Amino acid sequence: MKTIGVLTSGGDAPGMNAAIRAVVRSAIYNKIQVYGIRRGYEGLLEGDIEEMEVSSVSDIIQRGGTMLRTARSEEFMEPAGFQRALDMLENFGINGLVVIGGDGSLRGGLELSKAGIKVMGLPGTIDNDLAYTEFSIGFDTAVNTVLSAISNIRDTSSSHGRCTVVEVMGRNCGDIALYSGLAGGAEYILTPEEEVDITAICKKIIQGKNRGKLHSLVIRAEGVALGSSELADMIECRTGLETRVVVLGYTQRGGSPTARDRILASRMGYRAVELLLSDSSSRAIGIKGAEIIDIDLMEALEMKRVWNGSIMDLADILSI
Ligand code: F6P
Repeated sequence: MKTIGVLTSGGDAPGMNAAIRAVVRSAIYNKIQVYGIRRGYEGLLEGDIEEMEVSSVSDIIQRGGTMLRTARSEEFMEPAGFQRALDMLENFGINGLVVIGGDGSLRGGLELSKAGIKVMGLPGTIDNDLAYTEFSIGFDTAVNTVLSAISNIRDTSSSHGRCTVVEVMGRNCGDIALYSGLAGGAEYILTPEEEVDITAICKKIIQGKNRGKLHSLVIRAEGVALGSSELADMIECRTGLETRVVVLGYTQRGGSPTARDRILASRMGYRAVELLLSDSSSRAIGIKGAEIIDIDLMEALEMKRVWNGSIMDLADILSI
């Protein structure tokens, strides 16, 4: 393994820069040439590729976003585009690739691995929706961003005696809602993994109001079938409490990564290069407990997520 490439793909996530830095510096430390591929698979097939030096990744560990930029490429999914990507890798002599991204990005990496490229997948997504790893890069920062928003919302919600429905990201995964709801003391958390029980939600809100609570917070993951406005209307109608909706949107994708995300990204990036140096086949890097793990890339992507109902139960008990 003499030359490797690194790219970020799909939705960006805080900590991607720390991961790029770790890959570049670990490679150079091990005397491997390393190329940065801009705009994910789109940049790969267009040859938007540049050699990275130690200083190419200076002053980025603390930054959100991705210095390599990112894209979701339609062309890469087509046979001709895919072939162009393979040709580019060959032209640059890249035989090992680190892909930092979510499920779709790692699936792209899997296809390249079937064509003979050694691919290491790093989970870079705020959604935390990859089954093979307990946590993905960016998730912790996103949860902390939601928490900071919740505490601001709580102030004004208390002053006005309102209920607020806070909509968070996560695609079809409820983890951002679940973890920020538990950490933020929300009255109710709605996730795509569980049924919506509007009677139970309103009962909880009225219960809080009756014991003198001035505000109510309902965290709704974007993947829940019942929309935020519809939900707010139902709560207002059934509880008599004025109810507002706040959609946090892309604020959750930006911002300086937390220490936890930076450390996770650094450890995972280093492991990816270690694996590229060894004889192992394509792998997905993750974390289990305190340990950085790696498993077969295809196996990782075939795994089904297990919903952590006990955290939801805990949140429910603590918000009586
Ligand atoms: O996967 C990250 C994510 O932010 C999801 O939570 C969200 O549903 C989606 O990306 C938004 O995608 P886009 O950047 O295409 O609007």
